[in-house]
Amino acid sequence: MNASLSIEGADALLRPPEDGLPYLRHDRAASMTLEPGALACADDAIAALSDDPGAAVRFDASGATVIPGLVDCHTHLPFAGWRAREYEQKVTGVPYEEIARSGGGIAASARALAESSDEAVLAQAAGIGREMLAWGTTTFEGKSGYGLSRAGELRALRLAAALRERVAQGTVATALLAHAVPPGFTADGWMDEVEAMLPTVVRETVAESLDIFVESIAFSNEHLARMGALAREHGLALRAHVEQLATHRSVPVALDAGARSVDHLSRLHPDDVAPLARSECAAVLLPSAELMNAEDAAPGRALVDAGAICVLATDANPGTSPVVALPIVIGLGVRRYGWSAREAFLAATLNAAHVLGRAASIGSIEIGKRADLVVLDGPLEHVPYRFGHHPVLAVVLGGELAWVREDARDRVRA
Ligand code: NIG
Ligand code: FE
Repeated sequence: MNASLSIEGADALLRPPEDGLPYLRHDRAASMTLEPGALACADDAIAALSDDPGAAVRFDASGATVIPGLVDCHTHLPFAGWRAREYEQKVTGVPYEEIARSGGGIAASARALAESSDEAVLAQAAGIGREMLAWGTTTFEGKSGYGLSRAGELRALRLAAALRERVAQGTVATALLAHAVPPGFTADGWMDEVEAMLPTVVRETVAESLDIFVESIAFSNEHLARMGALAREHGLALRAHVEQLATHRSVPVALDAGARSVDHLSRLHPDDVAPLARSECAAVLLPSAELMNAEDAAPGRALVDAGAICVLATDANPGTSPVVALPIVIGLGVRRYGWSAREAFLAATLNAAHVLGRAASIGSIEIGKRADLVVLDGPLEHVPYRFGHHPVLAVVLGGELAWVREDARDRVRA
């Protein structure tokens, strides 16, 4: 074998209990193994769970833990600019209504996007992509939603396709066509517009899923059901921002509509835990949005114990979560939900790949899967425990070293 890369002598390799799983329900997270090991990559893929002394590049992973590349299945990239002033207002007690009245919130990012050149938006997003790579993210999703007009949303999705050419990671695009009600529309009227634009979205963009924000300030459960019907009609997956700020009992509606994921869940109704946990719909929890937005903690422990498919993501966006580092989100998830490190890493790897429809090719260390890997500088449990520490020694994309931490350069033999 002529491996491109051999990762040798790792203290631990994080592996699923069996190969070929489409996801792993969280009540089985403890069955993931952490054993000493090595692996060899060839032709983009994991070729063997043993080292290859003849490999073109060899990486000494002694003292390290090798995990699958992190998958961030919920971000709002690409977006334009930031909203730091608004964050300061929020933490110093300015009411949301006042922030919104003075032009803040989603409307502010929509304005910034409209006023920015394609090049400026892509340059910022590509920079964020490089930052995410250094924190171990090897695949990320991004959403439209700051377009707030037919042309604006189509442009956002074209930018998502262009971003794919600018970043090293794999990307997946979601059409968040119902994020805020655009000026001049009622929510119902905007949903008519969404229906009218969908053939173009399907024909001309790379979007794989539809998304909607269900909240009193945005769209309703009826609109969620309608988005579900549209997703089915157009062969797209359905995702939904639900139960973030208040309880609307949107989860049963999302399950009926065949949603791939329900995201946020800070205000999930206790009666909705069991039906969600029985389904194949993932519970995507966003603890950095909860923290930065002073929201309740989602019932992460209850969801895990009930056997839900749980997922962690950054929700990276300029408003509620300007956080791009999944290891930080893993630390927050462990603390806020009472999760083990294995539970948190399962949520940011295989189960996150399931949300993106990519679990057959990424999300776990298995022979034949794409060789997207992260080498951590210590035991798995150190990531949530040494909260804020940058734990990544090296990142592998498609069997090639894509990023190596300064102090790990002497581990590479080429
Ligand atoms: O996921 N919940 C709605 N949308 C975003 C926030 C968007 C913004 O504030 O710009 C979220 O939290
Ligand atoms: Fe979001």
